Amino acid sequence: MTATADEPRVAKRRARTVKKTEPTPESPGNDWSSWPTYDAASRGFRNYWYPIMWAEQIGQKPVPITLLGEKIVLVREGDQIHALHDRCPHRGVPLSLGRRQYEGTISCPYHGWTYRLDTGKMCAALTDGPSSPINGKVGVRTYAVEQRLGLVWIYVGDDDPAPVERDIPAELVENDFVLGGRWDIRPGNWRFAAENGFDEGHAKYLHNTALWRLFKVMPAWNETRIVEKDGWLIRVQDAVHWEAEFPGLGTWTNKRWWKRMPLPDAPGKAADVNPVIQGLDIPGFVSIRMPGLLRVAYPHFIHYEWYVPVDEDTVRYVQIMVRFEKGTKATAFKAKYLGAIRWLFHGQFTAQDAWMVDVMDAPPEKLYRPDLSLTAWRRHIEQVAPTVQQDPTVRVSK
Ligand code: FES
Ligand SMILES: [Fe+2]
Repeated sequence: MTATADEPRVAKRRARTVKKTEPTPESPGNDWSSWPTYDAASRGFRNYWYPIMWAEQIGQKPVPITLLGEKIVLVREGDQIHALHDRCPHRGVPLSLGRRQYEGTISCPYHGWTYRLDTGKMCAALTDGPSSPINGKVGVRTYAVEQRLGLVWIYVGDDDPAPVERDIPAELVENDFVLGGRWDIRPGNWRFAAENGFDEGHAKYLHNTALWRLFKVMPAWNETRIVEKDGWLIRVQDAVHWEAEFPGLGTWTNKRWWKRMPLPDAPGKAADVNPVIQGLDIPGFVSIRMPGLLRVAYPHFIHYEWYVPVDEDTVRYVQIMVRFEKGTKATAFKAKYLGAIRWLFHGQFTAQDAWMVDVMDAPPEKLYRPDLSLTAWRRHIEQVAPTVQQDPTVRVSK
């Protein structure tokens, strides 16, 4: 492998995600040992469905992906998309480099071992004749695949998968809506991305330069508590402070003459609210749930972002903006998404988050009062006690 300028930093981050620092009296809890499940989950959690990419992006050519550290190849056959372990058991060549030699199969590019797409079983070793003794004795693991919201979803788990709807917010299963979205592969561990999403303090500082907020005031600071409802942890603002005086420093505020004061402290409190969003009765704008999905609800639309672990150092960041409308309002939203939201919010705004997720390096850490959102999320994971993804390289070989 060729060394790159990035390697030392990546190596450092990997070491930090597995290393524990003994707490000392001077720095109580500056590591993640209070949350052992979370601490161990650098590759995420098994037994969940994860959104991957738009279904229409998978064409005739096999698509290789990495999910929770597992190498997977996606292959389309008509309307169906299949997912198989992307490694030929013969000599370890990726099947994603292979050919679609016969219907319903994929052949390894090296010696032509040929696998059924639906079962992963090898059905022919093309270079050893029809009587090859290895025939039928090997196979590759397959993964359950579903298509919802225009996205491909893959289940990484040990048992029969739960219905994919379990891992999709109920409001997206039960209502009509229009959506716009994008996905990226971003540097940084998925836990940093999830924590950044639910982090209470940063929006008021990091994002106060974002074009998306050019005409809306950001609070100076908030008094926050976290409540749990329907499997979501929700950030509730008990008090919103628009300015603050720091003795010896001056006033801290984001108020400007051209900015309007934003919404009340919960989406349902606005004067004019979409009925679906009102029906959710969410006590705060920002919520998070397993296995790593953030919801930011506004009175007229909801933004969702999934932090899908690629490997220990990389996250698949899938973001969608949803409006629960049909007809002309839906068309207008689509145009607004493509003309503005995609670039300002799903682009420049969340790129500020990506920047922080890339450069941050914790633990060790020293938390402050607004970080109760982070600790509530970590505690929630300990309570749910999901199955942590271990090093998958052995598990996926059959
Ligand atoms: S490595 Fe795949 S057939 Fe030989
Ligand atoms: Fe952010």
